[in-house]
Amino acid sequence: MAIFVTGGTGYIGSYIVAQLLARTEEPLYLLTRNASREKLWRGLQLQFSRDQFEEALPRLTMLKGDLTHEGLGLSRPDTERVVSDVTSVIHCAASLNRKSEKTCLNVNLRGTLSVVDLVRKIQERRELKRLSYVSTVAVAGKRHNETIMEDMAIDWGRSDYDPYARTKKFCEHMLRTLLPDTSVVTFRPSVVLGDSRRPETTQFDMVRAFAFLAQRSVLPLRSKHKLDIVPANYVGEAIAAVHLQAKPEFSIYHLSAGRQAATYKEIVTALAAARGHSAPWFWPWLQRPFGGLTRTVGRWFYGTAVGTAASRLAVFYPYLTYNTVFENTRIVSSFGHAPASFPTYCAPLLEWSLRNNFRYPYQDLPS
Ligand SMILES: NC(=O)c1ccc[n+]([C@@H]2O[C@H](COP(=O)([O-])OP(=O)(O)OC[C@H]3O[C@@H](n4cnc5c(N)ncnc54)[C@H](OP(=O)(O)O)[C@@H]3O)[C@@H](O)[C@H]2O)c1
Repeated sequence: MAIFVTGGTGYIGSYIVAQLLARTEEPLYLLTRNASREKLWRGLQLQFSRDQFEEALPRLTMLKGDLTHEGLGLSRPDTERVVSDVTSVIHCAASLNRKSEKTCLNVNLRGTLSVVDLVRKIQERRELKRLSYVSTVAVAGKRHNETIMEDMAIDWGRSDYDPYARTKKFCEHMLRTLLPDTSVVTFRPSVVLGDSRRPETTQFDMVRAFAFLAQRSVLPLRSKHKLDIVPANYVGEAIAAVHLQAKPEFSIYHLSAGRQAATYKEIVTALAAARGHSAPWFWPWLQRPFGGLTRTVGRWFYGTAVGTAASRLAVFYPYLTYNTVFENTRIVSSFGHAPASFPTYCAPLLEWSLRNNFRYPYQDLPS
């Protein structure tokens, strides 16, 4: 019996894989576009030493495939193996390309539909214990100054910030509609940033945005606004723990800081104290012009380093300024504790990222 995982080689997926290995005896079947041992090591080395990786290998099977291909691009023998061995599925893979309708449509929507087909094939043989779907709080669409409960997040009358949010929202709907008799559990992480136990990370987009803001003496933000950030280790632990529960209490969980989310003032005070600087000034009236400026610079300097940085900031800016948090009482009660607060671990994350020039020092596997 095995657990089929998509996205296990990615940032959040690597935390889920590490937790599944620690919490069960079951083998894991990992869907990936590149089924080489080097790729797996690259994906998992944030979690494991080389020795731990070698030890875990017998329980990990890489299955070459692609969400955008028919039948997930799995070979016939691999499909047969999945259908005969798999007892639960975690669908974590996605395209996070917020600017491409085409990629999000193909990877997220068509890919999730292929996962549904696979689940149905498995169910022709036996009952599937669970399908866990890793979604995002971005499904809540455009918001302003709100605290959002799990069951209120999807509102079809509301606009979305980007194609990523739109397609993830429809994936949730598709899974619920097409698999009404399956135990589908949806996890919606908020902004996943860093690890509360150590400074290393492999995902830098939001860290770069913070580094930019932390180095300014004036911020185009409101000091009292909250930003809902959750550490990746909490997300991985919570998903694995609930996935393995016999009967999860709820079908949707926000993995988020919720009402305890830190304010910008708390975050920048922690960063400034760690760097021995004075905290920046907040000039909220600059918020709108600054958002416009990032979009203009992104367009004018398209293809250059400045243009890329500006476009990246422009894409994240609505999420940085909407002052909206996601109620997390369900996961806190199911899991037993709340995530660490971002100000308690943001300074080492930023220092390490700056020192390593926003690159993880990947190590090669010995031949
Ligand atoms: N990061 C965040 O802040 C955040 C916040 C909320 C929700 N989420 C959700 O968390 C999940 C994982 O995000 P992440 O940040 O870990 O992403 P990531 O690091 O970019 O990893 C993406 C994963 O998806 C797989 N993948 C991408 N395209 C694929 C394709 N065409 N076929 C098969 N596999 C494909 C990749 O596998 P290979 O490269 O091995 O093929 C990789 O394992 C996503 O569902 C995302 O919506 C993330």
